[in-house]
Amino acid sequence: MIVLALETSCDETSWSVLQVSNHQLFIKALTISSQTKLHARWGGVVPELAARRHNEIIIPLLRQTLNQAQLQPPAIDLIAVTAGPGLITALRVGVETARALAATWGKPLLGVNHINGHLVSPFLNKNHWPLANLSSTWPAIALVASGGHTELYLMTKLNRTKLLGKTLDDAAGEAFDKVAKMINLPYPGGPRVAKLASQGNRQAFNFPRPMIKHKNCNFSFAGLKTAVLYTLPKIKKLNHQTKANLCAAFEQAVVDVLVYKTLKAAQEYKARTVIVAGGVSANQHLRNTLTAVISEQLPTTQLLLPDLKFTGDNAAMIALAGAAQVNFKKSPRLINNWKKLQPNANWELWN
Ligand code: KG4
Ligand code: ZN
Repeated sequence: MIVLALETSCDETSWSVLQVSNHQLFIKALTISSQTKLHARWGGVVPELAARRHNEIIIPLLRQTLNQAQLQPPAIDLIAVTAGPGLITALRVGVETARALAATWGKPLLGVNHINGHLVSPFLNKNHWPLANLSSTWPAIALVASGGHTELYLMTKLNRTKLLGKTLDDAAGEAFDKVAKMINLPYPGGPRVAKLASQGNRQAFNFPRPMIKHKNCNFSFAGLKTAVLYTLPKIKKLNHQTKANLCAAFEQAVVDVLVYKTLKAAQEYKARTVIVAGGVSANQHLRNTLTAVISEQLPTTQLLLPDLKFTGDNAAMIALAGAAQVNFKKSPRLINNWKKLQPNANWELWN
């Protein structure tokens, strides 16, 4: 099956062409146009600006993608588009473009949940893909940590997912971004905080580990962010090293909570696999800690992380999530889906 996919839920416009069968996966094209520079001066994503930029770039980028894949529209089996959750202004550009293409080319159209995309992103790695169809891979505990989400899921198949818990306030990536802002690092702050953290002392400050002792799968990062805010005025000299220490201690608190809660859930549900995905899964300290702790405490559990190029928003993950759904549920109704597909900014992933 050949899937053409489109992602516009936030500040990345991305197209991908994915060829997928039970045994093989081939990313024939992937293009990503990031808007981070556009939004940096505002300190965060401005929804109207995001939509305008998606509009400007979406067709030139489609042309580039089809050229890269050397693909003619008749060869496409499915068009998959992110339909939520995300910024409604941005989602609408993607969904309307995909609807127009599906109607013009007479193709089936599938609205894909953005979180579902992140959840399957580790399988975009050619070596991981064969595991997706093995019963010995499931059940999996999956953590999605990004700028908008921090959620734990139980996955019993690639396309069968149950929400176990989520953040009650800020997402983990959002906390990284806000701490970055407090010490005048530009948006998006996560990678910059992580870089500084690698030069700091993780014990220099003792920040809270919110909800770590709660016997559920929920998270909270607003209190941790506030603890950093209240600590700042008490620091006599905010130089490079104290900033690095602050970032290191903050990063350690986030990593401790994410790792502890993910492991607890993995133990409780006897997970054979742990999946960690989303923008924050690019964090090297998180990746290293997960690898070490899982091999020590759950030696029979495999850890699947996305390749770094698939941690952020991209259309390849949307293509794979779409392909997985259509494979398992044959849906002729998708042929006319362009007539009714609508974006849903608050789409929760349940099934
Ligand atoms: O998944 P993503 O690209 O977009 C959303 O769906 O939100 O995630 C972006 C988030 C941002 O908050 C960014 O600061 C964070 O992921 N992030 C990181 C790192 N790289 C990206 N956070 C911590 N460490 C990183 N290395
Ligand atoms: Zn995302």
